[in-house]
Amino acid sequence: MEKIELNNKKQTKEDVLKQSLLKERGQIPKHVAIIMDGNGRWAKNKGKVRIQGHKAGVDSVRDTIESCAQLGVEYLTLYAFSTENWKRPKAEISALMKLLIQSLRKETKKLNDNDIRLNAIGQIDRLPSVCYKELIEAMDLTAYNERMVVNLALSYSGRWDLTRAMKKISDKIKSGDIIPEEVNEELITSYLSTSEMPDPDLLIRTGGEYRISNFLLWQSAYTEMFICSKYWPEFRRNDLYTAIEAYQTRERRYGMISEQIYKEAKEKAEITV
Ligand code: IPE
Ligand code: IPE
Ligand code: MG
Repeated sequence: MEKIELNNKKQTKEDVLKQSLLKERGQIPKHVAIIMDGNGRWAKNKGKVRIQGHKAGVDSVRDTIESCAQLGVEYLTLYAFSTENWKRPKAEISALMKLLIQSLRKETKKLNDNDIRLNAIGQIDRLPSVCYKELIEAMDLTAYNERMVVNLALSYSGRWDLTRAMKKISDKIKSGDIIPEEVNEELITSYLSTSEMPDPDLLIRTGGEYRISNFLLWQSAYTEMFICSKYWPEFRRNDLYTAIEAYQTRERRYGMISEQIYKEAKEKAEITV
């Protein structure tokens, strides 16, 4: 299925070429996670109100989803609203929620037509009821799609995710379903909201800040990070390609030494030939 025109624009020949070069050059990350930051600063620089920045950011989301799907990324996790973002002024929060409802109403059909599944992680029951309802409907509609998962982190924080997992595990220990000796990394991973997906390979943060802001704390233990100085509303597919190109030059050693990684890769290549 090659149909993916969320922007209602035909893909240019130049873009097709760029994507195929990227695919030939190295591995495309299976799971890309993005901290979409800088909407407010973008707006301020342009003499607009903050919410204008959030609105402009929707175009970046669309272009990113479309290009990730074309490249063959399997999971795209977008940090859209953190637990701490509830502390923002009420007017900004309600404008953000309204924007979320509008975007879900407008984009879900297009996602579905393109075989993309929408998922959400976070305390979504804290969202206003209309928003929650739209989200559940979109998730239900797209539940069996297979091309790519767009995973929205909404009212999400890494510490919330870990705390919830620990509570669930404690309950299971209390009821005798789990014995304490069984608690290991694999078990903890299976109780996180991301249990159905691999850890992110590449984490992009826009807006130039060098911090994780309570995102996927456990899951990003060995994720490659890429900081983009552009504000989120300015982010487009070419910036994504730059991040993936950087990712492809990295050597992921997972605590080992270069020679071991090289040997492993060589052995793997011999098996597949
Ligand atoms: C990211 O942009 C969007 C959300 C956190 C909802 P910001 O709103 O944080 O923009 P800046 O960082 O203040 O520029
Ligand atoms: C991180 O951005 C959260 C999202 C992008 C949703 P913030 O703007 O909330 O992060 P801080 O406050 O600068 O760390
Ligand atoms: Mg910010």
